[in-house]
Formats: sequence, structure tokens, C-alpha cells
Amino acid sequence: MGIEPPLPDQIVVDQDITLRPMFTVDPEVMHARIHENLDHLGRFLVWARADYDLDGVMAFAEEKRTRWNDPQHEQGFGIFFQGEFAGAVGIKGFASLTAAVEIGYWLSEHLQGRGMMTRSVSALIKLAFETYDMNQIIIKAAPGNSRSRAIPERLGFTETGLLRQMSKNAHGELLDLVNYSLLRSEWQP
Ligand SMILES: CC(C)(COP(=O)(O)OP(=O)(O)OC[C@H]1O[C@@H](n2cnc3c(N)ncnc32)[C@H](O)[C@@H]1OP(=O)(O)O)[C@@H](O)C(=O)NCCC(=O)NCCS
Repeated sequence: MGIEPPLPDQIVVDQDITLRPMFTVDPEVMHARIHENLDHLGRFLVWARADYDLDGVMAFAEEKRTRWNDPQHEQGFGIFFQGEFAGAVGIKGFASLTAAVEIGYWLSEHLQGRGMMTRSVSALIKLAFETYDMNQIIIKAAPGNSRSRAIPERLGFTETGLLRQMSKNAHGELLDLVNYSLLRSEWQP
């Protein structure tokens, strides 16, 4: 069974920001954004590597298209800022027995510092709690990733512990992850 109700085709966050399914993003544009940002993204994200070519991006987009609304899969939204593709925000765990979903994200370096990701994550939290009746949102970030950690901290999450060597970056280095959690009962819309 798919996610019910089906995920929206578009989430209007505010007058500047719209989220659209990742598979609707032009693969050439996505490839260009990633490659303009390899140093920025590769410090914390394993897939942001120089050998991530256009075929790889197209295969990723196709998987996102075929598995859209599959509760076992991560659902990705492209973030459009004033019509420009700026980055992505994903949500996974709709099939979780404990109704806990995890959110992850990345943004082009030159578009940081405008609150775009905080607002986009906030919109997905609202969707998860209000439309899908989830009980908990989880965000994980490396201890040294201060910009990423600031997002759950800004949104009222609680730091609940350190997951040791849970991730790798694009250079193959193991990363610990700080676990942040927001319960539905703690959420202030
Ligand atoms: C993590 C990442 C998305 C954070 O980006 P960001 O721009 O810092 O986050 P936001 O878009 O929410 O912007 C927050 C900034 O905008 C400011 N801001 C402006 N208007 C704002 C608003 N309405 N709401 C919230 N913040 C606002 C905040 O004060 C903050 O500024 P500062 O950090 O310069 O003081 C980005 O650094 C990134 O993509 N990093 C590489 C990939 C990565 O690490 N991903 C996460 C893996 S766990």
C-alpha cells in the first residue's frame, strides 16, 4: 500500500519557496548544482562525489519517480527559491511502527543564510504531524556540522544522544551523528 493520502505534488512554503517532487527537477540542473557544490556538500554527504555523473543523477530521479508514495522509500522534494532549484529536503520512515520519520537536507552554498531550509523543514514537520499523524521527527547531523545542527535547535528539537560512526562523507571518513528528536506533543506550530 502507498502513502495515504498521497504526498502533495507541490508544497508552497511561502511566497519565495516551493517544494516539488525530486523527480520533477531537471536532471541536468540537479547535476550542475551538485557539482558546483561538491566541496560544500562532500564534507557531510557520502554521495556528493566527483564521479556522480549525469547518468547517476538520472537513475536517482527515476527511482524517486517510481517509488514516489512508497512508504518504504525516502521521499525527496526539490526546493525552489524564487523559481530556482536550490537544494533538497527528504523525509523517510512513513512505514515506521512508531510513527517516527527522519528528515535530511542540503542547500546550494550560495543560498545559505536566508532561513530557506529552516522554513522548508518546518513545512515538512507540519505535513508529517497534521496530515500523516506521525508521532516523532528525527534529524541527525555530524557534531561539526554547525549549520545543520542549528536547524533542529532553532525548531525546538531535543538533542537525545550521539550515534557513533553512523555515516560517511564523500571522502570516506566516518562521521558520528548527533540525534535530534521532536515529539508531536512538544511541537509548537
Ligand atoms: C545544512 C544546511 C542546509 C544549512 O543551511 P542554512 O542556510 O544554514 O540554513 P537555513 O536556510 O535554515 O538558514 C539559516 C540562516 O538564515 C538565517 N535566517 C534568515 N531568515 C530566517 C528565517 N526566516 N528563519 C530562520 N532562519 C533565518 C538564520 O539566522 C541563519 O543564519 P546564520 O546561520 O548565518 O546565522 C547547509 O549548510 C548545507 O546544505 N550544508 C551541506 C549539506 C549538509 O550538511 N546537509 C545536512 C547533512 S546532516
